[in-house]
Amino acid sequence: MSDSDKTHAAVKSNGSIAEGPHTRGKSVVVTGAGRGIGRAIALHFARRGARLALLDRDERGLRETHKLCAPQADQARCFPVDVTDESAVQDVFSVVVSTWGLLDVLVNNAGIVRDKLLLKVDSGQIVNRMSLADWQSVLSVNLTGVFLCGREAATVMVETKSRGVIINLSSISRAGNVGQSNYGAAKAGVAALTVVWTKELARFGIRVGAIAPGFVRTDMTAYMKPEALQRALAPVPIGRLGEPAEISAAVQFIVENEFFTGRCLEVDGGLRM
Ligand SMILES: NC(=O)c1ccc[n+]([C@@H]2O[C@H](COP(=O)([O-])OP(=O)(O)OC[C@H]3O[C@@H](n4cnc5c(N)ncnc54)[C@H](O)[C@@H]3O)[C@@H](O)[C@H]2O)c1
Repeated sequence: MSDSDKTHAAVKSNGSIAEGPHTRGKSVVVTGAGRGIGRAIALHFARRGARLALLDRDERGLRETHKLCAPQADQARCFPVDVTDESAVQDVFSVVVSTWGLLDVLVNNAGIVRDKLLLKVDSGQIVNRMSLADWQSVLSVNLTGVFLCGREAATVMVETKSRGVIINLSSISRAGNVGQSNYGAAKAGVAALTVVWTKELARFGIRVGAIAPGFVRTDMTAYMKPEALQRALAPVPIGRLGEPAEISAAVQFIVENEFFTGRCLEVDGGLRM
């Protein structure tokens, strides 16, 4: 089979897309798998018989996700690590490759919010400012964590000729949302990394995509006060929060569609910022 035939292996001779084999038995790393969207993505792959490496710094959440995934996944392993810890991340990917021989999919999902206005001004007086700690913690998890996991995944995929897929979770906030200097900058960075990596890694058969969700029903949005949530949802044409499973469906689309790379899929109920 020539390289170009391999690239189009998902398209059957009658022009339809082959179903199933894209995830069964594939080795998949999901970061931030301890709850929310990461857990939904892990479960999605588990139901399709994947081999799962589940990463999260929250051990309890991770164990719960593992309990849910293990009965259906081909195999599932937990890695209680912080995605900002370079050597811990390197160790995870070496274990993955020594156990399963290659890496098919990385979903770079772990993320945090520390929302604050750049300046909070009351009656002409500055009463609060976004702290450097709030800036750095969000950049560290949401951008550096994506870089570290993406770099290790790409290394393993190139060394094992895996021709895999890297999927990064960006956000609708990458366009610039009030109170999210840190988060918006990180998520715009994630969208940019997706394009850079697409261009650098395509020659190794590696595809890279991003997903930019709007407001999704997870703990990340549960912290919003009901009035704030109502305000946030008012301009959403579809009029409701997204469900984590709707983000998993976008992940599946990127994994299956071998003509998809270098783009950010917007799954936001039609909301524009
Ligand atoms: N929920 C939304 O409305 C929404 C919208 C747009 C984008 N996103 C993005 O989707 C992704 C998942 O969001 P969610 O709503 O499921 O969040 P969540 O807060 O419910 O879950 C995030 C998970 O990431 C883990 N995590 C955080 N920091 C980590 C670290 N340093 N190392 C390892 N694990 C870490 C947490 O322990 C948690 O299990 C994030 O990247 C988020 O920015 C979410």
